[in-house]
Amino acid sequence: MNGNSCCKVVATASIHPLDPLSADEIAHAAALIRKCFDWGADMRVETIDLDEPPKEFVRNFVEGNTVRRIARFNVYRRGVMGVVSGKLDLQTGELLSHVYRKDARAMVAVEEVLQIEATVKRDPRFQEALRRRGLLADLDFLCLDPWTVGNFGYENEQGRRVLNCFVWMRTSPLDNYYAHPVEGLHALVDVSTLEILQVIDHFAETGDYIPVPRTPRNYDAELLTEFRPPSAPLDVVQPEGPGFRVAGNKVTWENWDFRVGFNGREGLVLHRVGYTHNGRRRPILYRASIAEMVVPYGTPERSHYRKNVFDSGEVGFGRMANSLTLGCDCLGTIHYFDAIVPTVFGEPRLIENCICLHEEDAGLSWKHFDLRSRRTEVRRARRLVISSISTIGNYEYASYWYLHQDGRIEYEMKATGIINTAACHPGQPGAFGAEVAPGVVGHIHQHVFCARLDVEVDGPNNTVVECDTRALPVGPDNPHGNAFLVEERPLHTELEAQRDVDFSKMRYWRVINLGTANWVGRPTGFKLEASSPVQPFTNPESPSGRRGQFIRHQLWVTPFSAEERFPAGDFVNQSRGGEGLPAWTSANRSVENTDIVLWHVFGLHHLPRPEDHPVQPCVVCGFKLIPSGFFDQNPVVDLPPGRNQASCCA
Ligand code: NI
Repeated sequence: MNGNSCCKVVATASIHPLDPLSADEIAHAAALIRKCFDWGADMRVETIDLDEPPKEFVRNFVEGNTVRRIARFNVYRRGVMGVVSGKLDLQTGELLSHVYRKDARAMVAVEEVLQIEATVKRDPRFQEALRRRGLLADLDFLCLDPWTVGNFGYENEQGRRVLNCFVWMRTSPLDNYYAHPVEGLHALVDVSTLEILQVIDHFAETGDYIPVPRTPRNYDAELLTEFRPPSAPLDVVQPEGPGFRVAGNKVTWENWDFRVGFNGREGLVLHRVGYTHNGRRRPILYRASIAEMVVPYGTPERSHYRKNVFDSGEVGFGRMANSLTLGCDCLGTIHYFDAIVPTVFGEPRLIENCICLHEEDAGLSWKHFDLRSRRTEVRRARRLVISSISTIGNYEYASYWYLHQDGRIEYEMKATGIINTAACHPGQPGAFGAEVAPGVVGHIHQHVFCARLDVEVDGPNNTVVECDTRALPVGPDNPHGNAFLVEERPLHTELEAQRDVDFSKMRYWRVINLGTANWVGRPTGFKLEASSPVQPFTNPESPSGRRGQFIRHQLWVTPFSAEERFPAGDFVNQSRGGEGLPAWTSANRSVENTDIVLWHVFGLHHLPRPEDHPVQPCVVCGFKLIPSGFFDQNPVVDLPPGRNQASCCA
């Protein structure tokens, strides 16, 4: 660790309309809500976050202007179905609006989940199921993970907020319990009342139990006895400090500037991403976030068919974000942003060092050797990284935005942590999974993310054009059989703009501004490169398929609407489906030359490997936004020549 490498000192800045709510603002909002609803100690908070002001206000905002701060909230009463959503003026204390959604279930809070394990362990039905398996003596070593249940129309789940527990066990105090699944045993719990609705033992009738695999598979340094020799030190040192500047939540780096945002549901948000070139600031993204994700599992066996979890919309990437560790999570000269989210009781909770900002070497930027003059020109690239990591149960999602000097914006989601495990008879993982260790099976699944990209390429009004490559038939226009060309087609309406990746056409999409032209007279634009498409396999009419319809297409385009934020709907927990993108786009609004939002769906297709166990090395998916006729020429031809003085020959 470099002792000097955390720069916490930042210029002070007055409040900006897009700044996340402060601890005081969250506490104040919670106090106001408490007064409005008079639920006493039973008030529960799902969400208190910033209601972002209208875009025109933000665009015209000048530092020092008065800002009206409005909080949006979702709250509920312990033991009572439904959620109250509303908005509050934090200056006047006025409740601006509120609506009671009687069928909505709030996201699941970690404080609620932690009570469940002890409650289930006390249940006589659960203890009896353990006794049948010869596991009652291991009760203290059992670990129960409650999973969201989806909506399969079961009678005992109607009108309730329900979680289904899966069971694992430790064989010693720090042992990795996911190596020891207790197969086929579940407890269905009403999370609001802590009632145990049902204990399900899939083997109770046959008595043909799958044994708990007992071989320890550990990753904790305390438990490992052998390490490979340490590598030679590799330090990222910036003796003159980092190349970025931070003022409040605003970041300026190279030609880029943007604002960092954060909320309990999406986690990290980038606001107002722009690039200044030839003295002119050019807007690119008004707002960018990962707005939803779902993990559909592919096995119909026992209770595993229920696993179709929306880790963002049901739990919250922001609420589950980690405090990052200097020199471990983050290498180099780091600036950390803290984040604040409300607890389920409405208290502000500080997540220190939640968002990491730093620079990385990015290899070669460009090079040419002129054979005749024998001159070489070469420039190195660097990139700015903005990241945060969330832990959802067994899994870690590490989210990285990269800004490159040449105008590229890259996004990577790195999935790590521990795969969800089930037990099998050794050598018999079944058709829907793979054995990752003897008797431990990882079922096939996907991780499907949806980026919400509120674009403003050179201004608010944009159009998406689909770019397909076509080979011409051999004939008078293609006498040699070599001809192929790109055909561009604007996507006019929402239904027309539900698009899929097509490898046979090398398809990509450009976001263009019809009101601005580059020096060859073409509309300026950015290309969306869908580098991690996922083909969905869940039946779209099935209970799980209906809830996650956004995964049916890799691209959706909608006209901007401030209330259209989450592609599977505002309340995903036990939703019936149909909300969000499928509902909005059925209006088939125009998406041509107007303020549009791109919804890009991408992810991972995952049949677990033995290498994913006991802890999975990061697997990566993402996408790229690449300037495409946005600049008149290579925007980094002006990178100054230079040589890294710290480099030496080994
Ligand atoms: Ni996976």
